[in-house]
Amino acid sequence: MDDSQPINIRFEKAATQHQDIIFSWLSEPHMQEFWDNSQEHKDDILNFIHGRKQYYFYGTTQYWIGYINDQPFCFLLSDQILKNQNDLSDLHREYLSTNGHTISLDFGIGNKNFLGKGLAVPTLKAFTEFYKNNIDSNADTFFIDPNTNNPRAFHVYEKAGFEMIGYYYAKQGFFKEEKSCLMVKKFTDKA
Ligand SMILES: CC(C)(COP(=O)(O)OP(=O)(O)OC[C@H]1O[C@@H](n2cnc3c(N)ncnc32)[C@H](O)[C@@H]1OP(=O)(O)O)[C@@H](O)C(=O)NCCC(=O)NCCS
Repeated sequence: MDDSQPINIRFEKAATQHQDIIFSWLSEPHMQEFWDNSQEHKDDILNFIHGRKQYYFYGTTQYWIGYINDQPFCFLLSDQILKNQNDLSDLHREYLSTNGHTISLDFGIGNKNFLGKGLAVPTLKAFTEFYKNNIDSNADTFFIDPNTNNPRAFHVYEKAGFEMIGYYYAKQGFFKEEKSCLMVKKFTDKA
């Protein structure tokens, strides 16, 4: 990356042209250490990309590619959390949006060339803005849930405006029974 250039971060919905790069990122050790490595998750990505019915979790996860100065560098997941989901912890329920939508996120910088450059913070700020301005104007609450053994992620999420609200144990999925930090970012203005 040329430091003299202004940073331009943008996002695209994951599509067929991203398939190879997503799976190459997911095979990297630095992603595998903290990422859902299940076959169900991989199948869900493929189903999403190819417009097929999704089955993982609630079948509603969306996948995104982040670009920096036109180079793909990170992978994001978003999913709307609904009040009637039966796997929500009391902590999640307490912080759900009251009048708008709550979106849970996952994040990883897949492209190793862009690790350690302070990019997680501007990228997460840009993604939450992008999401509420372009995808769902009712989205005013975002959750992100780093594992307790990922203090680096916790630190950058705090810098990106997420507040730690407590711990919970996942009731299903790849991280079932594992302890995660629940962090929330709320927007008061619905632009
Ligand atoms: C975790 C991740 C998002 C960090 O993004 P990044 O832009 O590369 O972060 P950087 O290395 O530039 O910055 C890390 C910050 O955390 C700090 N940090 C590093 N290790 C730390 C630790 N063990 N404890 C606390 N802080 C730590 C650094 O000092 C730095 O802080 P600063 O910006 O205040 O100086 C990125 O490494 C990544 O995507 N990893 C792979 C997948 C992953 O872990 N995803 C998160 C799943 S929840």
